Amino acid sequence: MSRLRAAVIGLGSMGANHARVLAEMDGVELVAVADLDAARVAKATAGRGAAGYTDTRKLLHGTKLDFASVVVPTGLHEAVALAVIEAGAHVLVEKPIAATMQAAQRVARAAAAAGRLLTVGHIERFNPAVRELKRRLEAGQGGRVLQLRARRVGPFPHRIRDVGVIHDLGPHDIDIMRYLLDDEVERVFAEARSHIATGNEDLFAGMLRFRGGALGLLEINWLTPTKERTLSVLCEKGMFVADYAGQKLTFYENHDAVAREGALASVSEGMVVQYPIANREPLRSELEAFRDAILSGGPPRVTAHDGMAALAVAEALVASANSGMPVNVPNVEDFE
Ligand SMILES: NC(=O)c1ccc[n+]([C@@H]2O[C@H](COP(=O)([O-])OP(=O)(O)OC[C@H]3O[C@@H](n4cnc5c(N)ncnc54)[C@H](O)[C@@H]3O)[C@@H](O)[C@H]2O)c1
Repeated sequence: MSRLRAAVIGLGSMGANHARVLAEMDGVELVAVADLDAARVAKATAGRGAAGYTDTRKLLHGTKLDFASVVVPTGLHEAVALAVIEAGAHVLVEKPIAATMQAAQRVARAAAAAGRLLTVGHIERFNPAVRELKRRLEAGQGGRVLQLRARRVGPFPHRIRDVGVIHDLGPHDIDIMRYLLDDEVERVFAEARSHIATGNEDLFAGMLRFRGGALGLLEINWLTPTKERTLSVLCEKGMFVADYAGQKLTFYENHDAVAREGALASVSEGMVVQYPIANREPLRSELEAFRDAILSGGPPRVTAHDGMAALAVAEALVASANSGMPVNVPNVEDFE
């Protein structure tokens, strides 16, 4: 069978990885790449068969494509994703789906109207530690989930100028919390500060209340000298701790609850188990999943709805931080 013809638009720190993975992927041919920066184009095409462009419109006019990765800065996701859809290709747009819910709505509607698949780069869905965690939660190992806490902190990335840390990093953990709970966020409260003068927030603490009652805590910033990406999931029968970056998963048993078959009468320390996880690059799994969705006619594993749901929560968090008040999250269905 012929290979899917793919392109990558935007070849910065993330786009270069899309190009590398797609160039090596079975069933896919990386036929073209584009970036405003000619040096990045030259680097991405070196030793590969892909054509290089410094003008995305020329790429889209001159190339027959099955799909494209859109890896430009967030403020340009809408315009570039719309151009890809207009050119007749399926599209993977990096997270967040777009800079605003209105922009996300325009992209999602355009993809649906054109009959093209749209997925969003919520890459942690494809992290082997998260997949193992999801499997264990679904098997009932922890019992009911009471609280999820994500910590995503590290140094300021000077290249990100168009959005604040909530829009840039928040969608990862918001998406994973929704996915693990299979539930939507009802209400949020947040505080945020801007210490490095970009005009956008770089220090953020947020609380989420899910419809089913679980709590979410987000600590996200660009001001921490060491990089940490962790998620702890507190359940009736114990606590899971996932290290996204290290692809590790540990369970701290609540001995009392396990001894009483889940009744949460008291809490005591029990066994600690670190599960063996076969490490794999999440981007490779994400792009393979999109390839397979295209071949099977979809839907993609991460849908436009997922992208919009994460963005709606991010927007509510920013609104809460600005107003100092709790904010209800709108129904994503109202935007679809
Ligand atoms: N999923 C993840 O884990 C992850 C990680 C990093 C970044 N991202 C996302 O990827 C996107 C890019 O982030 P980055 O860190 O790679 O940024 P970056 O600044 O390193 O790269 C952006 C690239 O886009 C190019 N560009 C700008 N305008 C363009 C245009 N009109 N046409 C073609 N190219 C254009 C720039 O020249 C630059 O090379 C952002 O949306 C970001 O949120 C996702």
